[in-house]
Amino acid sequence: MRDEVLEALAIEGILLDPDAAQYIMTKEDPLGFTRTALTTMVQHPLILTLDDLRIASPVAEAHQAVENLIDQLPSPAPLRKDVGDIKVLKDVTGNSCCEGSINDFARYFNDRYKKIRTMLVRRRELVGCLSIPRALRMTRDVRIIAMVNDVRTTKNGHKILEVEDDEGRCPVLILRDSDLINECIVPDEVIGIVGKTSRKGDLVVMNELVRPDIPLRGVGMVPSDSSSKVAFISDVHVGSNTFLYRQWENLVNWFKTDGKDEIQYLVLPGDVVDGIGIFPGQEEELDIEDVFQQYKALAEMLKELPDDLKIVVQPGNHDAVRPAEPQPTFSKQLTEMFDSSILFIGNPCELEIEGRRILTYHGRSIDDWVSTVQGLSYETPLEAMKEMLKRRHMAPIYGMKTPLAPEKEDYMVIEDVPDIFVTGHVHGAGFLDYRGVKVICASTWQAQTPFQRMHNFHPEPARMPIVHLGSGTIEMMDFN
Ligand SMILES: [Fe+2]
Repeated sequence: MRDEVLEALAIEGILLDPDAAQYIMTKEDPLGFTRTALTTMVQHPLILTLDDLRIASPVAEAHQAVENLIDQLPSPAPLRKDVGDIKVLKDVTGNSCCEGSINDFARYFNDRYKKIRTMLVRRRELVGCLSIPRALRMTRDVRIIAMVNDVRTTKNGHKILEVEDDEGRCPVLILRDSDLINECIVPDEVIGIVGKTSRKGDLVVMNELVRPDIPLRGVGMVPSDSSSKVAFISDVHVGSNTFLYRQWENLVNWFKTDGKDEIQYLVLPGDVVDGIGIFPGQEEELDIEDVFQQYKALAEMLKELPDDLKIVVQPGNHDAVRPAEPQPTFSKQLTEMFDSSILFIGNPCELEIEGRRILTYHGRSIDDWVSTVQGLSYETPLEAMKEMLKRRHMAPIYGMKTPLAPEKEDYMVIEDVPDIFVTGHVHGAGFLDYRGVKVICASTWQAQTPFQRMHNFHPEPARMPIVHLGSGTIEMMDFN
């Protein structure tokens, strides 16, 4: 087991201090504990010490409690691909097959590279792009498509990227007086680089950065004859003692009266319950302490909504499913508690409803975007979502707060341009249009939590964004 822990750390480029090794071996599942501890660290240390583990330990143990619970749960319920007018286009449920070996990681990053390369290679700016080894032999302008391994700033204020394609790797220099110096290039994103090879042929100086992005033309919702509307309510957090009972009642009453026949589809993008063991001391903040009872309560709440409303439920980081993304859907043990008409999906998931492509993602990676990209904050989740669309990837940075499972296919790549892109997670509410994509942040049904109060964060609860599937117009309802 000790060797397995050392190997897992070596993959991340981390050495293990002997005291820390001894501590890890006292754990019931040393490898699982190490992996979880790493996901709680903002930055990976070069040498993992006992102090690092002591800080990470309470959170890691809380995570493990949930993981143990998940082990007791049967595997995810089979995914229904076609429910009335809703089609599931892409979802990991039923296709998950990874063990976290080195080969899995290589295959996973390779798939990401290939998918995003396919988008970039069509770009006019990258016509005639070369592999890295060939580019290094050229004396004229070169174009390459590469994955970023590392980004650092030199003491003179220049930036050096270490990049890699399927044939080689090289450093890329961004000079400090270049317009590109303030571009936030994140580890593990795939970019196009236009530049010049140095005389020695050992690096490329970047002159232009090309991102896959959303094409400027030919996208956006062309009006259709659909008269249906889809609504989104994220982060319901049933079971929490800050769940907003009165506002939920307002929502139910609206659906029974004025809202009757208004909405045809309702999507819940994750954190549908508060869960258990998600953060240290959570039990103090729960009204319902049993996770199964939390789902039971949600099932009862959803039964109060109109019978002909088509409901889609997705997991988030508080739900009792595998924490690593992409997350397969809920187990049968949980889905059986609900009305059989409800569609349970994984996270993320691409749906098609009445001809509109909807990408729904809980949004855990917003934590990582906020801590990596300058100018972003928890108050501006829509801006973080724009960063995802620009890079055509929801969670590129490996090894931060978002645990990523190295599936054989990278489900976090945004391969097809969605009409609607929705997340939750940060408990904000809002929408904007980015190059024709309706970008939506779908609120919460939880009041400010003690943790949010400590960080002076003000949620925008009890809002419900509604999109008209025919015209693409969006309205935000307020149930406060
Ligand atoms: Fe969340």
